[in-house]
Amino acid sequence: MKNCVRKNVLSCQPYIPGKPMEDVKREFKLKEVIKLASNENSLGPSKKAVLALRKVLNNVNIYPDGYCFDLRSKVACIYGVCENQIIFGSGIDEIIELLGKTFLNPEDEIVVSEHAFVRYKMAGDLMDCKVVEVPMKNYKHDLEAMADAVTEKTKIVFIANPNNPTGTYNTKQEFEKYFNKLLTANYSPLTFVDEAYAEYVDENDCPVGMEYLKKGLNVMFARTFSKIYGLAGLRIGYGISSEEVISYIERIRPPFNVSSVAQIAAAAALSDRQHMKKSRALVLSQKKYLYKELEKIGLEYVPTAANFILINVKSDGKTIFNKLLRKGIIVRAMDEYDFKDFIRVTIGLPSENKKFIKELKQCII
Ligand SMILES: Cc1ncc(COP(=O)(O)O)c(C=O)c1O
Repeated sequence: MKNCVRKNVLSCQPYIPGKPMEDVKREFKLKEVIKLASNENSLGPSKKAVLALRKVLNNVNIYPDGYCFDLRSKVACIYGVCENQIIFGSGIDEIIELLGKTFLNPEDEIVVSEHAFVRYKMAGDLMDCKVVEVPMKNYKHDLEAMADAVTEKTKIVFIANPNNPTGTYNTKQEFEKYFNKLLTANYSPLTFVDEAYAEYVDENDCPVGMEYLKKGLNVMFARTFSKIYGLAGLRIGYGISSEEVISYIERIRPPFNVSSVAQIAAAAALSDRQHMKKSRALVLSQKKYLYKELEKIGLEYVPTAANFILINVKSDGKTIFNKLLRKGIIVRAMDEYDFKDFIRVTIGLPSENKKFIKELKQCII
């Protein structure tokens, strides 16, 4: 079959997800395993979402509403946008892929940042277009350099704000300079602002993509229910852009790409402000705890605006990852992001973070 596979698919590599807890339990014969690998909400889903889910389980013989009617009107109301400015997907992951399939031809280019979330590059590779990678500056996207990398062939610029795996964010001022540069050069590629972690941001100078969309710029921003809303297992996220951009993507969106249970749970989670506040407060306070403990051990980290921390372990990150795994703690090695001496840890519950620090101390001796 190899001859039948599209040429560029042969050079694609599968995405490496965080290791599942059950695998680690089996492999190392462990009873207790902590997963701090995929930036999920360690408090779990909102109770309101779980309750809503229970009520609909008897109806899963019916196809979902392909238009996500109820959820769509809620999201439109939150942002004050038209319902046709929203696209729902099986996570932001699917939205990134749909963007690629809608807009990218082999002769096109996309601009991404060097250590950005890897799915953007994967979408470009899938469509066989040129992926222009721009080096970071101090672990941050260099937005000015990204604007400079735009040519008449650039269709999409991908910006994760905050970024995974660095946890860094770009400021309003940096975004303004970026858009001004594009305007001066007379280029208007679609700027995709991935806001998977936006709800955790506590910094006033971090913008939201909605500001730029309101100004009429060619922007799409995306949000997910996988992170602060605690619904990663249900796979649901959305993108908001101009009606025109959305209308093109809608032409190729699979008709039932978001399950009925995901829609119901997401709508309930949106209205659970308490759960959201609690989840955010936990991350902000535990971030301080982890910073303090890492400083005591003498390890450097990249200050984060999200719910995970990139840590320089001053030795091979994969080795530390494997040592922690044996202790029942799953983090992420960062070699695939070209950060060989780093691990990335999700900010968990106080007990989980304490255990992580205790074991990390042993691993780095
Ligand atoms: C920056 C960023 N964007 C998107 C995603 C994917 O989110 P979803 O679960 O909505 O597909 C992730 C997941 O880790 C991420 O870190």
